[in-house]
Amino acid sequence: RVVAVIMVGGPTKGTRFRPLSLNIPKPLFPLAGQPMVHHPILACKRIPNLVQVYLIGFYEEREFALYVSAISNELRVPVRYLKEEKPHGSAGGLYSFRDHIMEDDPSHIVLLNCDVCSSFPLPDMLEAHKRYGGMGTVLVIKVSAESANQFGELVADPVTHELLHYTEKPETFVSDLINCGVYIFTPNIFTAIQGVFTERRDRANLRRMNSFEALQSATKALPVDYVRLDQDILSPLAGKKELYTYETLDFWEQIKTPGISLKCSALYLAQYRYTSPNLLASGDGTKTASIIGDVYIHPSAKVHPSAKIGPNVSISANARIGAGVRLISCIILDDVEIKENAVVIHAIVGWKCSIGKWSRVQASFYLPSVHLPFPFHLNKLKLHVSNQAEGDYNAKLGITILGEAVAVEDEVVVVNCIVLPNKTLNVSVQEEIIL
Ligand code: GDD
Repeated sequence: RVVAVIMVGGPTKGTRFRPLSLNIPKPLFPLAGQPMVHHPILACKRIPNLVQVYLIGFYEEREFALYVSAISNELRVPVRYLKEEKPHGSAGGLYSFRDHIMEDDPSHIVLLNCDVCSSFPLPDMLEAHKRYGGMGTVLVIKVSAESANQFGELVADPVTHELLHYTEKPETFVSDLINCGVYIFTPNIFTAIQGVFTERRDRANLRRMNSFEALQSATKALPVDYVRLDQDILSPLAGKKELYTYETLDFWEQIKTPGISLKCSALYLAQYRYTSPNLLASGDGTKTASIIGDVYIHPSAKVHPSAKIGPNVSISANARIGAGVRLISCIILDDVEIKENAVVIHAIVGWKCSIGKWSRVQASFYLPSVHLPFPFHLNKLKLHVSNQAEGDYNAKLGITILGEAVAVEDEVVVVNCIVLPNKTLNVSVQEEIIL
């Protein structure tokens, strides 16, 4: 019996996802037309003998209530949201619900970070885990040496696949093999987490005997019940024949910013070709819009037959796409209206936005692999990439993001901007963050 646990975090963790996380918990933001957390849940469904999926986080319960009941019915596997009173860290959060998790008497616990985009090769990983015979198996991938330091870097034995060394986001390069945030554990993981608590308590008691040291460490110590899976469990257990690695050669991305979510949406749309081709728009017939490449259109959206859509476009519920509209590489959220002959390229258009006739909402540089049917000049503008506040992070990626209910009036051009909710743009803007 297998129980899956998806760590969804909470509101304070989603700040880099602004302005889109102002409306919706980040795990419910749609990628390829489905909430982010939907993709790992579907992957869990492929695990033999899966009995339960838990989402653990510190968002309000009501934010997940509708979603978990809908997905439980759809998959016929119970999905439940468990709310932590306060953040306990990635391992502490798991531990705080050990009684719930152990109720089903699982032989294995699949643990996933919600903010990763992957093909989640869970059945194969579970088989490998059983062969290795350890307490845990970590999904790993090779990335470029320059990007590795944003992740947990690790060294594995090339023959036995044992995890030999683990360092979380190291300052100096260790390895280009990184932790994907997807794990399989036996229930012994709870004993390992308990061990961290006991050690911390013992250390705190010792310190109490030495009041000077106690004063010094009180300022930097983590709360006793805050346990991080990576630093507090993986690092100390590496090289002890407890942990093993399973390398994926398939796609994997971490979803920290809206800009990356556009890429992840493309990856999941491409995956639909194999897993759920029925979700991809076909564009056959004279009454439907021209469709290019992978496109998702919610059944309630209205798209004019003369619009041209794709590749990498997802259109959510009740959106209205007018005559002659051109959409390339974008996420169009619920209730958006895009009027005649507007163009959206490499952008995320928030809930209830309206884009006027002949307007353009786009990135300043985007090199589409398709031929564009209109003059498109690459903008040579240098982006300000250094020293930026977190909110500016997306600008580096070359994308335009409109928050909820932004109105772009007719014939306005918006290039590489992040626009906060409820703004009206009546003049063209470029390279700006509009607060
Ligand atoms: N429920 C709950 N409670 N979830 C949490 C908490 C908590 O207190 N803290 C973090 N999470 C969730 C986050 O939402 C995320 O899904 C996951 O746990 C890991 O978050 P972090 O601990 O902030 O780590 P990270 O995302 O910066 O990096 C981790 O994931 C990378 C892969 O995406 C590390 O494990 C890296 O080594 C790894 O490469």
